[in-house]
Amino acid sequence: MKARILVTGGTGYIGSHTVVELIQAGYEPIIVDSLENSYLQVLDGIEKITGIRPEFHKVNLRIKKETEDFFNTIGNIDGVIHFAAFKAVGESVSHPLSYYENNLNSLIYLIQEMVQRGIKNIVFSSSCTVYAQPDQLPVSEQAEIRKPYSPYGNTKKISEEIIEDAVNTYPLNAISLRYFNPIGAHPSACIGELPQGIPNNLMPYITQTAKGIRKKITVFGNDYPTPDGTCVRDYIHVVDLAKAHVIAIERLVSQKNATKYEVFNLGTGRGYTVLEVIHAFERQTGIKLNYEIGPRRSGDVAAIYADTSFATNVLGWVAERDIDNMVITSWRWEENIRNIYGSLFN
Ligand code: UD1
Repeated sequence: MKARILVTGGTGYIGSHTVVELIQAGYEPIIVDSLENSYLQVLDGIEKITGIRPEFHKVNLRIKKETEDFFNTIGNIDGVIHFAAFKAVGESVSHPLSYYENNLNSLIYLIQEMVQRGIKNIVFSSSCTVYAQPDQLPVSEQAEIRKPYSPYGNTKKISEEIIEDAVNTYPLNAISLRYFNPIGAHPSACIGELPQGIPNNLMPYITQTAKGIRKKITVFGNDYPTPDGTCVRDYIHVVDLAKAHVIAIERLVSQKNATKYEVFNLGTGRGYTVLEVIHAFERQTGIKLNYEIGPRRSGDVAAIYADTSFATNVLGWVAERDIDNMVITSWRWEENIRNIYGSLFN
C-alpha cells in the first residue's frame, strides 16, 4: 500500500512541487491548506503533471478546533511534511504577532494531533535564516543558531526548538530542512511561485520586470564585501528541494534516521551575487532587464551559502539543477501564469 503523507501548505510554492515529487515516487499525498496564500487551481497543475488529483482539505491549522476536526476525518497517515506558514519577511515586521500566532500555533496543534494519533514522522520546512550572518562560509548545520533578523525568521528558529523538545518527549521523529534561496519552477510550467502583490523576493521581481509588470528592479546595495558588491545567496531549484523532502520523509517512514531529530541544509553550496542572477537571466532569455542600484535593504546579510556535505553524505541528495535552469524555468512559469490564472496576476 502507498504511504500516505500529509502535506500542509501543499498548494503553496514548495509544497506543490513536493506533492508532485511524492506522487511520482509512489506516495499518496494528502494536502491541507488554508488557501490564504495559495489557490485551488494549483491542484489542476499537479494533476496535469502527474495525472493524479491529490486529496485536498481546506483547513486552517492555527485554529485548534479545525485541526482536530480535520484529523478526526482522515484516517491513517504515515508522515507529515509541514510547509504551512506565513513567509513574508517585511509583513512579519509589521505584523509580528500574527506571524507568531500563525506559524507557532499551527505547528503546536499539528504536533498535538500527531502525538495523540500515533503519527510518528514529521519533516519541517525551516530556513537558513536561523544562522543570521554566520561567521564562517559555507555554513554547516553545526554553526551557531542566532536570532534571525525578522519575526518570520524567528518563527522558524522557535519552531525548530519546539520540534526538538517534542521529539525528546514523545514518540516522534523529525527532520528539519533548512532551505537557502528556493527559486525556479517545474519544467512543465504548470506550477510555480505565485507571489501576491509586489514580490519581496528577487526572482519573481526579475520575471515580473521582464514581463513589464514592474518598471525596474532595484538592486539592494552594491557596497557589500562580495565580488561585485551585491549580496551573495545560495539559490536552489525548487524541484531539487522537493526531491529532498521525498528522501527525508522516506528516511523517517522507513526508520533509517540516525537520531530522533535531524537537521539538514538544502542548498547547492554555491553562492551567486544579485548581479550574477540578473545576468544569468538576461543570458538565458535574451531579455535586457531594467535595473538600478539602490540602498541596502535592512535585515539583509552580505553573504550566505550552504555547506551541503551533510545532506549529500547522509541523505545521498545533491542539488542537480544549475542557475541557468533556475532562471529559465522561473521565466517559463512567469510566461504561463496568466494563461492559468487570467488577470489575477497582473
Ligand atoms: C528572504 C528572507 C528569508 C526567507 C527567504 C525566502 C530576508 C532578509 N530574508 O531571503 O528569511 O527565508 O526570503 O522567502 O528578507 N534583492 C534585490 N532586489 C530585490 C529583491 C531582492 O536586490 O528587489 C536582493 C536581496 O538584497 C538579496 C537577494 O536579492 O541579496 C535575495 O533576496 P530575496 O529573494 O528577498 O531572498 P533573501 O533576502 O535572501
